[in-house]
Amino acid sequence: MKSVMGLLAGVLLSQSAMAASDISLKQAYAPHFLVGTALSMAQIEGKDPAALGVVQQHFNALTAENVMKWEELQPKEGDFHFGPADALLKLAEQQQATLIGHTLLWHQQTPAWVFTGPDGKTASKALLLQRLTTHINTVVGRYKGKVKGWDVVNEALNDDGSLRDSPWRKILGDDYIVTAFQLAQAADPAAELYYNDYNLYNPEKRQGAVRIVQQLQKAGVKLTGVGMQGHYGLDYPDLQQVEDSIVAFAATGAQVMITELDITVLPRVDDNAIGADISLNQKLQQQLNPYSQGLPAAIEALQQQRFTGLFRIFLRHSDTISRVTLWGVNDQQSWRNNWPMQGRTDYALLFDRQNQPKAVVKALLNLVDEVKP
Ligand code: XIL
Repeated sequence: MKSVMGLLAGVLLSQSAMAASDISLKQAYAPHFLVGTALSMAQIEGKDPAALGVVQQHFNALTAENVMKWEELQPKEGDFHFGPADALLKLAEQQQATLIGHTLLWHQQTPAWVFTGPDGKTASKALLLQRLTTHINTVVGRYKGKVKGWDVVNEALNDDGSLRDSPWRKILGDDYIVTAFQLAQAADPAAELYYNDYNLYNPEKRQGAVRIVQQLQKAGVKLTGVGMQGHYGLDYPDLQQVEDSIVAFAATGAQVMITELDITVLPRVDDNAIGADISLNQKLQQQLNPYSQGLPAAIEALQQQRFTGLFRIFLRHSDTISRVTLWGVNDQQSWRNNWPMQGRTDYALLFDRQNQPKAVVKALLNLVDEVKP
């Protein structure tokens, strides 16, 4: 009898514990790490109020999906547009959420003028350096004390771990990463500074990122953490490799954040379409768009398994991981509907097209209780 009572009490206890953490992802995970999301321009402009409700309830870190990229902030030389980024800052303040800056230096979503000289040819090193300095000083200076941390350099690596031959590298040389971090550090000495990239679970690319961290450390420049983007699928990556990378980055003394998590449920377009090379832009092929009428429960269950498998790892390494950010609030918004192929119907996030929590949300809430000591 006693043991039955005990069992009953246990069940009741775990039910009430579940009810408490049922409130929100950000509350449930607060002892471990921030849970963030990325907001689109439309969301920042208040065009999807239900999404903002989800953000308020579940997320405590905000990243601009696009509006803090170079092409948005400085589309023409010296012509800065801060409206949408300022609106995001206001939203973050209203919601008492941490604001993350994405991104200062990238080879994508950067206007061509940045790399072009007055003669129409490739810009000189001095000119590009001057433009980078102006951009970082102006942007980081404006949000000094407001943005907690910046993705200073985004996607500097090839998949084999070597440095990508981007215009930045071609014109400024291999030191450009150190330079960018130095500039950001000088513009806001208190801001956290991150190196951010995709496919960092891949052992070769992992080594490349470790080399970047060490290069910065050797130069005596601040590097707070490594951002692992996390654009994943149902059959990739190998979760053990994700964990190995977290451990490898932690060993350098860097923090780790998962910065752009989403899990596509759609068939693979081709082998290059693993990762996040945003230049991929294939035309819609209906045979690769199988769930336009709805997602089969079995596939959703597989995705839930992937999400919980990942969060289990993140919880295990919560002393290293300071934030896990989903790349969007709801399935409608997700860039994966259009990348690497345009116009598909994907289900890559935690909330559905009506901003309702998918079953995975409950599973992630339960997971926290499960791993409690
Ligand atoms: C994506 C946005 O989600 C899209 O809206 C945009 O059209 C292209 O960029 N890696 C990054 C992000 O660092 O900035 C990218 O975001 C996805 C890949």
